Amino acid sequence: MGSAQSSSTHKVNEKRSIGKEKYANFDWDNLGFSLTPTDYMYIMKSNKDGNFSKGSLTPYGTFEISPAAAVLNYGQGLFEGLKAYRKEDGRIQLFRVEENANRMKMGAERLLMPSPSVEEFVNAVKQTVLANKRWVPPYGKGSLYIRPLLMGSGGVLGIGPAPECTFLIFTSPIGIWYKDGSKPKSLLIEDGLSRAAPGGTGGVKSITNYAPVFEAVNEAKAKGFTDVLFLDAATGKYIEEVSSCNVFIVKGNIISTPGIQGTILPGITRKSVIELALDFGYQVEERSIPVEDVIEADEVFCTGTAVGISPVSSITYKNKRAKYKTGAKSVSQKLCETLTGIQSGCIKDTKGWTVLVE
Ligand code: COI
Repeated sequence: MGSAQSSSTHKVNEKRSIGKEKYANFDWDNLGFSLTPTDYMYIMKSNKDGNFSKGSLTPYGTFEISPAAAVLNYGQGLFEGLKAYRKEDGRIQLFRVEENANRMKMGAERLLMPSPSVEEFVNAVKQTVLANKRWVPPYGKGSLYIRPLLMGSGGVLGIGPAPECTFLIFTSPIGIWYKDGSKPKSLLIEDGLSRAAPGGTGGVKSITNYAPVFEAVNEAKAKGFTDVLFLDAATGKYIEEVSSCNVFIVKGNIISTPGIQGTILPGITRKSVIELALDFGYQVEERSIPVEDVIEADEVFCTGTAVGISPVSSITYKNKRAKYKTGAKSVSQKLCETLTGIQSGCIKDTKGWTVLVE
């Protein structure tokens, strides 16, 4: 999992001056998935009728919040993640930003918050990227990760939605998610702790879905695994998700992924991979996947905005390790090349998935 940057780095970055140069003075060759504060963030607040006032850009930094805020006390919060890519010609583009806007709306309904309209969301993202454009890495070096948040920022004491919500966007240049880069991942199937329960919030991008995985992920990492694959909380028989991403298995010409049934996040990379796989002529199944099918698979890979399409070399379950095909001739590699090609602009986008920020 990506690690947060130290607070001393924050202070240094808060003080730096914002020049007019095309790129920030930064070591673009060593980007990982960690926080590098950029110049501006975007903030917009809802009034008591649930409408948002006009948002604005403000220098990146800390902001005030009521100690009784619903997000702090009751976890009334959502986040999104998307990326801005530098094309070879230097222009900047976003990938499927309306999908993030729609997913935030869906989550906001579940957590009883007003949400920005798709238009407000997309405009806010574009403004934030433009304000931080010197932080969009040069072509091929990484991307600008964009983190929209929606939170119950008004104070409440009893259980109930906040009287005021804040929509905020910050950004950070990033490279790869997993520390070992393109090296295939080794996953541990966790059969004790769960990520999401039926009727819960696993199907929306609630902030409350993430801290509960820390313990299992830390323990797995201490044992030398890259990450954890969680099973369904109801029966413990079917695979669900990895800590921060969706999962796919490949057997022959069939690519399968757990169906969206409330406990699985409707990933935007997941959705894109399904479409690309169908275009390539694979049969795609969204279904309940028992652990046995995973053990028998030819290939396993993970998908997410942060991880991209990430091949899995082995999965360990009850002390037994199953190994999978990875590398040049794998299905995941083919899908990954196509997806990243579209995202970075070196493959023509015939699907209307990308939009320029100018
Ligand atoms: C993303 O892939 O953008 C996510 O939201 C996962 C997050 C835990 C970094």
